[in-house]
Amino acid sequence: MNSSASNTFTRDIPFSDNDFRSIADLARDRFGLSLAESKKPLVYSRLARRLKSRQVSSFSDYLALLNRTEEEEERLELISALTTNVTSFFRENHHFEMVQTVLSQGLAEKARAGGRLRIWSAGCSSGQEPFSIAMTLLEAIPDAPSKNVRILATDIDPKIVAKARAGIYSAEDVSGIPAPLRKKWMTADDAAGKTYAVADGLKSLVTFNELNLMNDWPFAGPFDAIFCRNVAIYFAPDTQRRLWQRLSAKLSPGGLLFIGHSERVTGPALEDLTGVGITSYCKSRTNAQPTLQ
Ligand SMILES: C[S@@+](CC[C@H](N)C(=O)[O-])C[C@H]1O[C@@H](n2cnc3c(N)ncnc32)[C@H](O)[C@@H]1O
Repeated sequence: MNSSASNTFTRDIPFSDNDFRSIADLARDRFGLSLAESKKPLVYSRLARRLKSRQVSSFSDYLALLNRTEEEEERLELISALTTNVTSFFRENHHFEMVQTVLSQGLAEKARAGGRLRIWSAGCSSGQEPFSIAMTLLEAIPDAPSKNVRILATDIDPKIVAKARAGIYSAEDVSGIPAPLRKKWMTADDAAGKTYAVADGLKSLVTFNELNLMNDWPFAGPFDAIFCRNVAIYFAPDTQRRLWQRLSAKLSPGGLLFIGHSERVTGPALEDLTGVGITSYCKSRTNAQPTLQ
């Protein structure tokens, strides 16, 4: 973006190209986010609110504040402001259909017999994704809560993780759940039927934790499936390539990786991952072909 174009949006706090680059560098180094020059007006409008709420009058002061060790909460406000939490129940339903298929091909039977089954929703936002996974599992394994079956759901944003953990949704949110599943797993939380609570049987399958995907992952895995959808879209290409590799390393042989509709696995991860459907990949088994090829 040239300097005349950078002046085409109105602003009451000066926002220089240097300010933008410093914010973009911080967002890349701490969170893996890639902010193109074209995002400058958006970044300004989202962050101007933060400056006002912190009563800071310039972006250089705001940057100094963000770099203070004790300002972790403000850094998380920054990532909330720069990313979106948009999600919905059974979003990109073909992924849940593929999980159903794999469950019916032996995975459910193995879990019913006491075998280990793990799924990770990485970048789970307000919880609709892991709860959709849980509903899918419970259809195939009704006694899953008493078996060795767990879903790990993580997100960088502590506020969104708290919302997910609470499991309270609007009538509009739950309208995307097929009626039989909605009846089984969502109970009206108020007399007016405006909010719904996730039933305990569903909740008990999911563990929510805060996790920045750029940092170390404090769990061993492996996972039978990983959903990492509409998260890497914000990351720079080399950050994405590293993420795909790290996710692949956490999959069990034959495990599935699901990514967002506008994402593609690229780089060395493709040595172990094979495309098996729309934005779906299968980890190769040693000396064997992926299950879904
Ligand atoms: C658009 S939502 C996607 C939610 C869900 N996976 C889906 O596809 O419906 C993206 C989520 O990624 C999270 N996120 C962004 N950067 C992240 C990072 N570095 N580590 C972990 N989560 C991140 C955001 O907080 C947000 O909740």
